[in-house]
Amino acid sequence: MPDSRPGPSPRVVYRPGEEGVNAYRFLTSIVLPRPIAWVSSVGTDGVGNLAPHSFFSVASAVPPVVTFTSVGRKDTLANVVATGEFVVNVVSAAQLEECNATSAEVGPSVDEAALLGIAMEPSAVVRPGRVAGSPASIECTLHSTVDVGDSVLVLGLVQAITVHERVLRAGRVEARELDPLSRLGGHQWGRLGEIHDIRRPRPEDVLPG
Ligand SMILES: Cc1cc2nc3c(=O)[nH]c(=O)nc-3n(C[C@H](O)[C@H](O)[C@H](O)COP(=O)(O)O)c2cc1C
Repeated sequence: MPDSRPGPSPRVVYRPGEEGVNAYRFLTSIVLPRPIAWVSSVGTDGVGNLAPHSFFSVASAVPPVVTFTSVGRKDTLANVVATGEFVVNVVSAAQLEECNATSAEVGPSVDEAALLGIAMEPSAVVRPGRVAGSPASIECTLHSTVDVGDSVLVLGLVQAITVHERVLRAGRVEARELDPLSRLGGHQWGRLGEIHDIRRPRPEDVLPG
C-alpha cells in the first residue's frame, strides 16, 4: 500500500559516526551496481598483481581518465605508484569465480594470476599484462592520486583501450556480449538486467509550451 499520509516519506536516518552505524556498509549496499575494475599491475620486482576494485568509474572525458579507489594501502596501489602503470580489465560473467579468487589478500610476493592459472597476455602499450579472457581492457599511466582518509583515489590516464572482436558490432561495444559483472552489497555480485535504449531528450522535449 502506498503511504498516503502527508509529510515526508518515512525513513530511518543513519548518521556516520553514530554508534552502530556502518556508513561503508550502507554506501556499498546503496551505490550499486558498481562496475568492477580488475586491475593488473606489476611491482618494481617484476611480480604481477591482479585484484578487483569496485570503487571504479570514468573520471574525465578529455583527457580520458578512469579512477579506482584503494580502501587502505594495498599491493595494487603500491605497484601503480611505484611503476606508474596499470590495466583495468572488464570482468565478464564467466570470470566470476576467477575474479573473486584474486581478491584473497595473498601478499605482494604472490602473482594472483600465476597462482590461480588465469591467463595473461601482453598489453598493447603498457608493461602490465591484460587478462586474456577479459572482453575489454583499459591501459593506463598514472595521472595522480588523491588521499581521502583511509582511502586513495587512483586516477589513470587512458593510453589504450583494447576490445575483443567478439563484443564488437560495427565498431561499437555490445553490452550483452561484454556481459559485465557488477558488485552489489555485501558479497553479492550482479549481471545486466533489462536494457532500455532511450534517446536523451532535447530541452524542447521537456520544457512547457
Ligand atoms: C568484487 C570486489 C570488489 C572490490 N573492490 C575493492 C575496492 O574498490 N577497493 C579496495 O581497496 N578493495 C576492493 N576489494 C578488495 C580487494 O580486491 C582485496 O583487498 C585484494 O586483496 C587487494 O589486492 P592487492 O593487495 O593485491 O591490491 C574488492 C573485492 C571484491 C571481491
